[in-house]
Amino acid sequence: MRLRDFALERYFARWEFGAELLLCASDIEGWPVGDLLALADDDGLGRWHGLRLGYTESRGDPDLRAEIAGLYEHISADDVLVFSGAEEAIFAIHNVLLGPGDHAIVVRPAYQSLAEVAEAAGARVDRVALRPEDGWRLDPAAVRAALRPNTHLIMLNEPHNPTGALSDRATFDAVVGLAAESGARLVVDEVYRFLEFDPADRLPAGAEALESGVSIGVMSKSFGLAGLRIGWVATRDREVLTRLAAFKDYTTICASAPSEVLALIALRAKDRVLSRNRGIIAANMPLLDGFFERWAGVFEWVRPRGGSIAFPRLLADVPIDLQGALKVAVSRVGEAAKAKQVKLELREGAARETHADPVQTDRCLSALARAAVECAQRGSSVVAEAVSADGGGTSVVLRVETITSKDKLDDALGPACSLGLRGGTGIGLHEARLLTEAMGGRARVEVEENRARLELWLPAR
Ligand SMILES: Cc1ncc(COP(=O)(O)O)c(C=O)c1O
Repeated sequence: MRLRDFALERYFARWEFGAELLLCASDIEGWPVGDLLALADDDGLGRWHGLRLGYTESRGDPDLRAEIAGLYEHISADDVLVFSGAEEAIFAIHNVLLGPGDHAIVVRPAYQSLAEVAEAAGARVDRVALRPEDGWRLDPAAVRAALRPNTHLIMLNEPHNPTGALSDRATFDAVVGLAAESGARLVVDEVYRFLEFDPADRLPAGAEALESGVSIGVMSKSFGLAGLRIGWVATRDREVLTRLAAFKDYTTICASAPSEVLALIALRAKDRVLSRNRGIIAANMPLLDGFFERWAGVFEWVRPRGGSIAFPRLLADVPIDLQGALKVAVSRVGEAAKAKQVKLELREGAARETHADPVQTDRCLSALARAAVECAQRGSSVVAEAVSADGGGTSVVLRVETITSKDKLDDALGPACSLGLRGGTGIGLHEARLLTEAMGGRARVEVEENRARLELWLPAR
């Protein structure tokens, strides 16, 4: 099974614990353990202090499952399987329910694993677009149009990450109807459930909308306890639950013992936990409203209807993440180069590295990206040049050059002003297009018979 990098998680890996201010997390501010324990009843405190750190029940502690079932109307403890986070639940669901020859429908945009794992499991995935001009609304007609005879799964996410959209009841019912009619299984990622801004907008759970429906829940988001890594699947389809449990034997086997107890304590005090968390959102929304009003020409947004995230759009053409943009561009060229098994050389000033293996290649590319950004910050502009030294496409040289004077910049850009793309070299048309796309026009590529010249032009900061 091959999974592409989870772009968002790679981004978080880099910035989440190093950034001074974090405005991009999707979970509610985490609870301090002391505050949570202060909500515990005597039984909960007894469990905490007497906890034995052995393995736990593979399906999840029965009392915890009973508390989870209490979040639904018609779900019992035996309809619940505990996972290590919603992420493990998604991984198991796609692997158990989908395989080659199957078809799945997933909304776009979406939390990457909702579609990624389905594809990696071998399924063909069609994405149903949510669009800002439609208020990110799900269109049941688009779901209907995407249905095929082999559609096994319709995956929704309500409230939705990243937009904060929440379908109205009629829309949700229409999609439930499509699943029932077509025999496709409805799976709803409900990790932001209970954070509807208007509780009257809360949708039925996927597990209750249809006998075969599946709900994915987690302690991370609405409950503000991401560090517990406790998630679950709820479904009345016991056969599916049994298969999921068998799959889990190959991932985490069982959940963390301290996490199960803390999750139990939190769920027993769910009204207070949720009310603190909803309070944080309620206090922040007016700040965001004011911000987007003041910056109306720079950002636009569709105000979310639920959850703890929104998906504003930056209107102005300003570089937000120079380094990120350059890295994406450069690594795309790198990927293309790797696919062709070419050798990459990075020349940066006096340093020169030559690597054929992908890990080292990645390092070279990141080093290039870093070097280019540093240059951009020091000088006025940067030209990074990739040269395919021979026509056979066996070697690519990446060079960073700081352009300090306008004349020099004109000189460098001059020959590459026209996108004279011809095939037959290490950097082909496809990579050139990917790159220029990724750089939003700030890249130019010129391919001659035996030489490819690639220029990334970054405005000074
Ligand atoms: C829609 C959605 N599903 C699943 C997850 C995974 O949740 P967890 O990290 O708690 O496993 C996330 C996390 O951001 C999410 O936004």
